[in-house]
Amino acid sequence: MSDHAAEVVNPYGGSSTTGPKRVRTRHFQNAKDQGIKITGLTSYDQLTARIFDEAGIDFLLVGDSAGNNVLGYDTTLPVTVDELIPMTRAVARAVRRAFVVADLPFGSYEVGPEDALHTAIRFMKETGAHAVKLEGGERSAQQIRRIVQAGIPVMAHIGFTPQSEHGLGGHMIQGRGAGAEQLLRDALAVQDAGAFAVVLEMVPATSAAAVTAKLSIPTIGVGAGPDVDGQLLVWTDFAGMSDGRVPKFVRQYANVRQVLLDAVTEFRDDVDAGAYPAPEHSYE
Ligand code: KIV
Repeated sequence: MSDHAAEVVNPYGGSSTTGPKRVRTRHFQNAKDQGIKITGLTSYDQLTARIFDEAGIDFLLVGDSAGNNVLGYDTTLPVTVDELIPMTRAVARAVRRAFVVADLPFGSYEVGPEDALHTAIRFMKETGAHAVKLEGGERSAQQIRRIVQAGIPVMAHIGFTPQSEHGLGGHMIQGRGAGAEQLLRDALAVQDAGAFAVVLEMVPATSAAAVTAKLSIPTIGVGAGPDVDGQLLVWTDFAGMSDGRVPKFVRQYANVRQVLLDAVTEFRDDVDAGAYPAPEHSYE
C-alpha cells in the first residue's frame, strides 16, 4: 500500500495529494479488501526507521529478532522487555507514516491474559508504538482478546514461532500436511480473538494461500509464498548485513555488509598511510 498505490486506489480513504498519512489498522484491512499488498520490515533504531519510512514501507516491526541482530544472543529467548523498549521508542519517534509494531518478548505474556495486558500497556505507554505483536495461535487467543479489549491493536504470529524453537525442534517449516489444519485453526482463533492482522512465518505457500482465502483479516507472510496479503522481512537479512546463513525465502536486495566492510577498510588504510585527515578535514 505505497503512496503510489494510494494515488490509484486510495486505500486511505482521504485525499492522495495531502502527503503521507499515518498508516492505521483500518488501512491494513482496506489493503486486503482492495487487493493491495502490505509491506513490512523489522527496524531496531531511528536511522533505519527513517529510511524505511521514507521508502514507504507500511509497518515497522521492532522484533525480538533484535536478540540475534543487535544484542548478540543465539536465539530470541533471552530478550527482555527492558531491552526492547528503548529500541521501539527510537523507531516510533523516527517515523512519520509507518505503523510501528512492538514485539512482546518471550516470558512477557505467556503466564496469562493479565500478564500480557500489563506488558502491552508498558509498550504502548513507554514507546509510542501503535500495536503489539505476540506469538501463538490457539494457545495465545485469550491473551490477544484481553489486550484488544483494552483498546490495543494486536498483530498475531503463527506458523514457525521463533520463541518456541526448542519446542518445535528447531527452525522447522510449519503447516505442512496435517499441520495445515492446525495452521488454519490457529489463524481462525487469532482472528476471532480480535487480531487485526496475522504473520505467517515459514509455512508452505499453499497452506498460506488457503489461510489467506479463509480469513477476513490480512495475512503477512515471512517465508509464506506470494499468496498472502503482505510481506515482512528482517532488514538485516534482506540488506545483506549478517555474515551468517539467511533463510531460503529471503531475497537479498543489497550487500550492505560488504559496502561497510569496504568503507571501514579504506578508512583504516587511509589512517595508516596518513591520508586521513586531509587539510580540508582539519580546523585552522
Ligand atoms: O522478531 C521478528 O523479527 C519477527 C519476525 C521474523 C516475524 O517476529
